[in-house]
Amino acid sequence: MENERNNSPVPQAVDSPITRCAIFLVATLAPGQAHRDTLRSLCADVAALVRSVGKRVPAGNLSCVVGFGAQAWDALFGAPRPASLHVFREIDGGERVAVSTPGDLLLHIRAEHMDLCFELATQLLARLGDAVTVVDEVHGFRYFDMRSMIGFVDGTENPVGREAAHFTLIGDGDPDFAGGSYVLVQKYLHDMAGWNQLSTEAQERIIGRTKLSDIELDDSVKPSCSHSSLTTLEKSGQEVKILRDNMPFGRPGAGEFGTYFIGYARSPEPIEEMLANMFIGRPPGNYDRLLDYSKAVTGSLFFVPSADLLEALADKAP
Ligand code: HEM
Repeated sequence: MENERNNSPVPQAVDSPITRCAIFLVATLAPGQAHRDTLRSLCADVAALVRSVGKRVPAGNLSCVVGFGAQAWDALFGAPRPASLHVFREIDGGERVAVSTPGDLLLHIRAEHMDLCFELATQLLARLGDAVTVVDEVHGFRYFDMRSMIGFVDGTENPVGREAAHFTLIGDGDPDFAGGSYVLVQKYLHDMAGWNQLSTEAQERIIGRTKLSDIELDDSVKPSCSHSSLTTLEKSGQEVKILRDNMPFGRPGAGEFGTYFIGYARSPEPIEEMLANMFIGRPPGNYDRLLDYSKAVTGSLFFVPSADLLEALADKAP
């Protein structure tokens, strides 16, 4: 499956086209050799399952990205291990905490229609059986014109095309894992009553963009604590980006209104730096006011092997 032009490994569908639906599954691996064997053997079958389910609705853009947590990597595959893979370290800003919660396996399933996501999730979990316990399952939906749950357009500043590949795919720095990525997920719950009490102008200063038209505020009026400012990183004069595909989710009847944050990058570092800026502040205390209305209730880091490596991992016991 190698990329014929340059022999570099083919990535998983990290940069999948924008879809209207997603299912996020985070699971822990049960102890025991048999369960590890079951999960390992699925690695060779994911692509075929995506083809089988996806073929039934050709325009449905079904995809699935598979990621592994640090502890599961060691138990399943041993050495070598991806250079920057570690258990997500909690970021404690006092009032605001980016919690770290268990996660050995991430399945990020995307499609135009929820039936496709649902069917693939069902097939994958049937294969896994008792080998895993799903600790979090979120069904996300696209909200009108790319709106986040808080009413602002989400995803505008994402890198696209070659730039997305540049910022998300591991290169020569970790040659055994070239074509792979890191992905961080966090489930946020919003205080929508509190958020909706703010004026539109106050919300716009928190995000750093206009609400209806999604235009970035001019630097002269954009606060340094805006979400947009605190998540903009520069290294040696160059902007460092990540690729996000957040999804709103919720149950109005239960008063639940959420955003599932998912960020891909070629190293966990920029994502962790953005989180530190948001939760602790840049400088400390100058934190992201979005967090006065949003609480992170999960947080896990995963490594996403290239599609080629994922298939090969089926035969790679430690
Ligand atoms: C409560 C959860 C979150 C919500 C509702 C949210 C929403 C938004 C919105 C509406 C924008 C502006 C449009 C855009 O460029 O996408 C944005 C930008 C952005 N967000 Fe978030 N976000 C959340 C969490 C996070 C987290 C946890 C990170 C990073 C760890 C992050 C990183 C970014 C980045 C990098 C940008 C682009 C900044 C720029 O270049 O101007 N977001 N987000």
